[in-house]
Formats: sequence, structure tokens, C-alpha cells
Amino acid sequence: MAAQRIDKLLAAAGCCSRREAAALAKQGAVAVDGAVCRDVSRRIDPERCRLTFRGQRVGYQEHVYLMLHKPLGVLSATEDREQKTVLDLLPRQYRTRGIFPVGRLDKETSGLLLLTDDGALGHALTSPRRRVDKVYHAVTDGVLTQEAVAAFAAGLELRDGTRCRPAVLNIRQIMDGTSDVLVTVQEGKYHQVRRMLAACHAPVLSLERLSEGAVRLDPALEPGQWRELTPQELEALRADAGEAGNG
Ligand code: URA
Repeated sequence: MAAQRIDKLLAAAGCCSRREAAALAKQGAVAVDGAVCRDVSRRIDPERCRLTFRGQRVGYQEHVYLMLHKPLGVLSATEDREQKTVLDLLPRQYRTRGIFPVGRLDKETSGLLLLTDDGALGHALTSPRRRVDKVYHAVTDGVLTQEAVAAFAAGLELRDGTRCRPAVLNIRQIMDGTSDVLVTVQEGKYHQVRRMLAACHAPVLSLERLSEGAVRLDPALEPGQWRELTPQELEALRADAGEAGNG
């Protein structure tokens, strides 16, 4: 494994921020192979050296990959002066390592949001060339018909003239003038699902993302809860990202 700066390793493990690391090391909080180390710019191989912080072994994980059940009312951003962001829902150990949301959900959309500090994978996953199914559950004001299903399948034109790729509209239930639907899209234009449904005269009342490629929102996660991806989920995600490179 390539050598890493000690302050980066400490931040990645959630011990402190990179800025705090320098001051704490000067106070003697950091040791490498049992010897106090006051220079956090020093590079060490975390698999060969024993790094400790306040006497505790510092573990090392190159990147983290999380799924969050994004609740309503929270921004898909890394920081905001006034409003709560999805990063505010994570423990400090993740925030200090520069994690970011992979793509966005609107503030008033809930459901599956992936987060990582792996810039290369995050970038590949948000590539416009990546054609991976994203499935949303929506409830709309207004009754959707087979005409809308056909328009989705043909590639809908939004009210501003934007053309969408073919998508799937699956009408599950019509009740009291509302429609309960599943929408599957392979792109991520701004407010895309809301705009597609509005173009069919059925504005969204609620919207939730259920899956992205092979990764499904874990039903055990309550809104606001998160977990690390399993190795199988990560493998599937990497396969999705690989497709973008070939697309
Ligand atoms: N489409 C939308 O309109 N909003 C989202 O948050 C995601 C997809």
C-alpha cells in the first residue's frame, strides 16, 4: 500500500480533523511503532506501521461507501450555512474524511442516497453516459393513463422542450384522483421525475428513490439511518460504474 500522510490517516479514521492533527501530535497524542511522532506530514504505510492516537490503534480503510435513507427536508450537499445536509446525519468519523453524496435527491425527495469518499467511483457513477436504472416511487395528484405510459416509453418531452430518454411508468393504483406509480429512469436531469410527471398533468405529491442499479434501499433503514454497503453491493456498483466507461 502507498504511504499516506499521518494527518490524513487520522482524519480518515475519525480521530480528529487534519488541522487538529498537527496540534495534537505536538502534544504527544500520536505514535508510530511505539515512538511519539510530532510531525503529521510524515508518510507511513498504514499496513506496515502501527499508528496510534492517544494510545489506541488507528484502523485504516482506504475508502468508505455508504447507503443513507435520506429523510425529507434535508439537502443532498456537503455543507450549507442554514440548512441541514445529509452529512449532518453521519458520524464525525465519516465527515472528516471528505465524504460526498453520489448525485442528488431533491430536498423533498426521500430514499436511497449513496455516499463515498472515492472520487473516481463517485465521478464514474454520476457520468451522464452511465445508463443505470433508478427506480422511484411516486404519488401524484392527478390520474395517469396508458397514454402517459406510452409517452414515457417513447421518450417524454418536458414542458421546456427537453427530451428524456425512454423510461418506464408503472401505474400501481389509482385512488381518489391520485396515482401511485413506479418510475424507472436511466438519467438524472434536474427534478427529472417531478418534471416528467408534471408534463403528464400529474404533479408529484411524494417521491422516494427505491434503488440505483443493483443497490436497493435497505428496508431496515429508517429515514435518517445509514449503513456501509456490503461487498456484494459495492461490487455491483463498480460494475455499474464500469459500464459508463464503455458507454
Ligand atoms: N427526480 C426528481 O424530480 N427529484 C429527485 O430528487 C430525483 C429524481
